Amino acid sequence: MINAPKKIAVFASGTGTNAENLISHFSNSELAKVELVLSNNAAAGVLQRAARWKIPATIFNRKDFIESEKILQVLLDKKIDLVILAGFLWLVPGNIIHAFEKKIINIHPALLPGFGGKGFYGKNVHQSVIDSGAGMSGITIHYVNDQFDDGEIIFQAACYISRSDTADSLAEKIHSLEYRYFPVVVEKLIQHPI
Ligand code: GRF
Repeated sequence: MINAPKKIAVFASGTGTNAENLISHFSNSELAKVELVLSNNAAAGVLQRAARWKIPATIFNRKDFIESEKILQVLLDKKIDLVILAGFLWLVPGNIIHAFEKKIINIHPALLPGFGGKGFYGKNVHQSVIDSGAGMSGITIHYVNDQFDDGEIIFQAACYISRSDTADSLAEKIHSLEYRYFPVVVEKLIQHPI
């Protein structure tokens, strides 16, 4: 029997290039499809990207997300199988974590467990890595729990940092790794859950 494609929901707070890469990757897939984009930011670029691909989007505020079951209900109504955080800046509340145990994954633009946790987002991460004198950085794809950047690690890929790298140039290297690996890792995870 052929299984129905898994339904993916992507949460993003900003530009959403990773979200779009996932949408594009799964647009012709029999394995999965991005069915919904969710954002806490009505001005987020990810919303235009979703609209271009004709993917429905939901915008929510802190109260809807944290103090009510509204967003959990949206995910359940849509029969979402997998939740992906791609540049999403809020901590996911317990009701969603419990309903989607081992079904929520995040991508972090550094090699966890270093350079993660509250405040480590956007350029801050890359600047901190450079300031530390580290010779390498990379990406971490991990399950999400109730702490920032703390769940079980699924996959990491690394890149070198050169002496001339800035936060911006390192961000570009990291984005390349993300575009290359994130959809493929999600695909493998759907095929062989761990
Ligand atoms: C990515 O680097 C991701 O790892 C991090 O936030 C960034 C989002 O970039 N969590 P974009 O919005 O997908 O371009």
